[in-house]
Amino acid sequence: MSEPAGSARFAARAGSDLRRELLVESWPELGLVAANGPADPSPELVVVDGAVTRLDGRAAADFDVIDRFLVAHGLDLAVAEEAMALPDERLARMLVDVDVPRDELVRLARGLTPAKLARVAGMLDPVELMMALKKLRARRDPGNQAHVTNLKESPALLAADAAEAARRGFDELETTVGVARYAPLNALALLVGSQTGRPGVMTQCAVEERRNLELAIRGLVTYAETLSVYGTEPVFADGDDTPWSKAFLASAYASRGVKVRFTSGTGSEALMGFAQGHSMLYLESRCVSIVRAAGAQGVQNGSISCVALVLAVPGGTRAILAENVLAAWLDLEVASGNDAISSHSAIRKTAKLMGQFLPGTDFVTSGYSVMPRSDNTFGGGNYDADDIDEWLTIQRDWQVDGGIDPVAEGEVLRVRERAARAVQAVFAELGLPSVTDAEVAVATSGHSSRDMPDRDRAADVEAADELLARGVSALDVALALDRRGFVEVAEAVVGMLRQRIAADYLQTAAVIEPDGLVRSAVNDPNAYLGPGTGYRLEGERWELLQALPHVVDPRQLASTNGEIRAIVDTHETARRGDDATEVVVALGPAFGDELRETINGLPHGEVLDAVLEGVREAGGSPRLVRIRRAADVAFIAHDGAVLSGSGIALGLQSKGTAVIHRADLQPLDNLELFGMSPLYTLESYRAMGRNAAGYALGRRVGPVPTELDNFARAKLIVLTTLLHAREAAAVVPGAPAVELARSS
Ligand code: 5AD
Ligand code: CA
Repeated sequence: MSEPAGSARFAARAGSDLRRELLVESWPELGLVAANGPADPSPELVVVDGAVTRLDGRAAADFDVIDRFLVAHGLDLAVAEEAMALPDERLARMLVDVDVPRDELVRLARGLTPAKLARVAGMLDPVELMMALKKLRARRDPGNQAHVTNLKESPALLAADAAEAARRGFDELETTVGVARYAPLNALALLVGSQTGRPGVMTQCAVEERRNLELAIRGLVTYAETLSVYGTEPVFADGDDTPWSKAFLASAYASRGVKVRFTSGTGSEALMGFAQGHSMLYLESRCVSIVRAAGAQGVQNGSISCVALVLAVPGGTRAILAENVLAAWLDLEVASGNDAISSHSAIRKTAKLMGQFLPGTDFVTSGYSVMPRSDNTFGGGNYDADDIDEWLTIQRDWQVDGGIDPVAEGEVLRVRERAARAVQAVFAELGLPSVTDAEVAVATSGHSSRDMPDRDRAADVEAADELLARGVSALDVALALDRRGFVEVAEAVVGMLRQRIAADYLQTAAVIEPDGLVRSAVNDPNAYLGPGTGYRLEGERWELLQALPHVVDPRQLASTNGEIRAIVDTHETARRGDDATEVVVALGPAFGDELRETINGLPHGEVLDAVLEGVREAGGSPRLVRIRRAADVAFIAHDGAVLSGSGIALGLQSKGTAVIHRADLQPLDNLELFGMSPLYTLESYRAMGRNAAGYALGRRVGPVPTELDNFARAKLIVLTTLLHAREAAAVVPGAPAVELARSS
């Protein structure tokens, strides 16, 4: 005997997308544990004479740089005693209790230590976490952020993608560089493109901080979120940083009117080898506490670039949602990840997304790739241009606002072209290497940078250096646009400079409306207190998010083809036949009348002829009747069988479903059911006719082989409903069957 082979089903699953990634057991010593790690400290806060002497298991003398920063700038000792005294369960319940307002939770959070925060969030199950996040989000409505990059660093394509993203409703756009020297050109293309698509959209170019700040000071970018923090001292030190240096950098941005948020997220410490035996969630609790203490308005968290590592350990998806909750609880704006590829599996990726998508966060993705994945120089977006229809459909399915608007193709082409033209004009005015008409054309309608003409990259990077050396600012960009007739874009760029002076958009969770109005947690706060309150997708916005370009009006479907001449003539009431070779062909109420073809477009006349031929071929005598009292194919066929001299009938519904029936069977039983109407050809109907005759003549009949299309239902259920509605509408209750004749 040979070895028993393994299961073919296990083998098939082993080849799935999902199985390309590695799942591992927890290993707490290495920090490979999502939450509630065995070595996570117990929450602890001891204050003596106004000074913190112990924090989460450590005495003041042993405090690391993070502890010292939190003690100096984070913990609000005025509420700490009250907050820390609350039992974990009590706080956990308050997080999900709709009657406990957000303000109260935020007040208490200021007095909670990282271990307490992590422990309480770690108690919530996924639905409770979503509830907490929905309640704790800073701004009333959710928003979204986009990634805009391309492999060729093509300015026309960057501008076109930025414009489309802005037009689709993204509140923030970020770009980065494949080659560092491109930064000023990419920032410029993004600024021009974004303001062409929708005035007020904020932009950033993620590069080294000194360059980033320089671009910001010149107004070429308007926000920054590159400031990473970590939960253990060695990771900070490795990056040549401390919480103080990061706080200082944040202040540098903010002092120049640049919106700033930090970046952190579970998994980074384990990835960098210094998790010190702690769970990912506990370390992230320390991170968001640092962000709060640094005075920043917000954080990009939710694992970010480390997401695949966190998903490798048990409870990873839950821990990521928990860290978003912690940030919101600390009153921070949350840009909640879903930016980096989290899984090869489309199912798993979207299962993870629901944690942020359903409750809504300030930015549901902290980078939705508006271009195809191959052009995402952030390392591949989790969702990209090819997924937009899915995203829009899921918004529509759940009646949930995920921050992306449906836009018709013509309008997308219009804004893309306008943006590519605008950046072409700016490049010309500023003496940069020219953007050709061919580049504009492909940027408008191409799929990815692969379609774009190549540029002289050496000339581009030289020009970028020179642009910086010349001190070109956003004002020069606006003037260039104005000189070339892009007046509305010029005004929008000046509008962004004005925002930097007013600085309202430095407030928590700020987004800028096209008219320049800033909405933030200050003037448009989330005040969710249970059903009927807070942000709900309703009214005009819901109308907009329902109206996807490919949605059709059901009234336009399955319409009668009035032109076609009659295929049957109607006679007197049908009687029971006495010919033993008779096969009744029983038509549904609308067959060949109100409806004229089957669901896959076979004309009823041809279907009927095929059936009649089939019956005759096999030696039967067909007789045509119409059943008027029922639309159900079982009753159509059974009523026919009762009228048939042989007791056999073939029932035909208008959409093409058929049943062979026998008078002595129960109506819902049958000899053969042909339920896959979309698959049938005229030959199929001929075979049905032959079989029906075979039963009538008492022959041995092999059933017509069953065919299956498992997607037919999903694909055709709407059409089925519409066709059936018309069949049902043609029913005359209680009316007897009538004799028909095939029209000549
Ligand atoms: N923790 C901290 N920083 C992170 N980044 C990405 N993921 C994390 C994380 N989990 C950083 C990147 C980049 C910035 C945008 O975010 O390294 O500097
Ligand atoms: Ca981002």
